[in-house]
Amino acid sequence: METKLIKIDGGQPEAEPIRLAGQIIKNGGLVAFPTETVYGLGGDALNPDSSRKIYEAKGRPSDNPLIVHICRWEDIYKIAEPVPEEARKLAKAFWPGPLTMILRKTDLVPQETTGGLSTVAVRFPADLRALAFIEAAGGFVAAPSANASGRPSPTLARYVQEDMDGRIEMILDGGEVGIGLESTIVDLTGAEPMILRPGFITKEMLEEVLNTVEVDKTILDVDCRLRPKAPGMRYKHYAPKGTLSIVEGASETVVRSICEKSRSAKACGERVGIIATDETVQRYLTDSQADSVKSAGSRSDEAAVGRNLYRILREFDDEGMTVMYAESFAEHGFGQAIMNRLLKAAGHRVEIV
Ligand code: TXA
Ligand code: MG
Repeated sequence: METKLIKIDGGQPEAEPIRLAGQIIKNGGLVAFPTETVYGLGGDALNPDSSRKIYEAKGRPSDNPLIVHICRWEDIYKIAEPVPEEARKLAKAFWPGPLTMILRKTDLVPQETTGGLSTVAVRFPADLRALAFIEAAGGFVAAPSANASGRPSPTLARYVQEDMDGRIEMILDGGEVGIGLESTIVDLTGAEPMILRPGFITKEMLEEVLNTVEVDKTILDVDCRLRPKAPGMRYKHYAPKGTLSIVEGASETVVRSICEKSRSAKACGERVGIIATDETVQRYLTDSQADSVKSAGSRSDEAAVGRNLYRILREFDDEGMTVMYAESFAEHGFGQAIMNRLLKAAGHRVEIV
């Protein structure tokens, strides 16, 4: 199959490519598209064959449910029942936006889309191009992140192309995404609302709308002994080809320790990459002898760190890094999402110094 790459870079949705993309979805095909979080790999959420094709294209286990993307609030009533008061409050505060809610599903949603579960993940994204595409596609687009299973979620169309070329009909290239980490997932089917995956909408933000919000304890679990509630969070994900370790401690000690580790690894013939911050990058450039040192951004700008993380992990893969070190990040606010993805990429390898 030839995968068409069409630029829709202008910010405003361009009518013709979006119409074509929508037609592909209606005919049972797959189209990757930009959202404000990461690129999604879209198919018709109400067509079981489309969901099967998504799993196949990603090489993803079919018990890992997909998120259904909508473009109008009222469409939630077609796919979820009941729609609790909490969902209405959260939607009012954060939709359209980077928040996914887990609700009980209606019969309209096939089991293939929800990985056999009786619940459905619903997201109403903010990106205007995504909304126009969902509308052109019939209103219900199942979309996991558009990476091959086990690779970091794509923040650029080029990365979608690397993973999906020849496997899907079309990629809508909307340039670099804004947030760079996947949406926050909140489960509203239990006794208390619970965050299953941290993201740009933080626990603190959710608690301004709902009184208490719990966090799935596995999210920042270093030991990895607990079983995450979101099926997708159980699989080894976001994994770079080399070995990534997170080094945690006082800033000065961390920098010194990473430099030492890097020099020893170099002496053993490894190719070493370091994920630094603007505050520390110069020190590594001078002292670590690493092959590649990349700053994820300033510690005072976590949004930048979130946006850069997956790109850096992919670049380290491309540059053939065999050993990588990363500084750690705050475990509250958006830092919680950054740390959660880093922990997963590192296979939960953390060294406290
Ligand atoms: O930002 C995002 O959410 C992106 C963009 C494309 O919208 N999508 C995304 O989808 O990250 P995906 O498939 O890569 O991650 C979906 C996560 C998985 O961990 C999956 O297990 C979980 O959501 N999930 C989906 N439906 C669920 C359900 N009914 N119950 C629990 N977890 C669910
Ligand atoms: Mg994913």
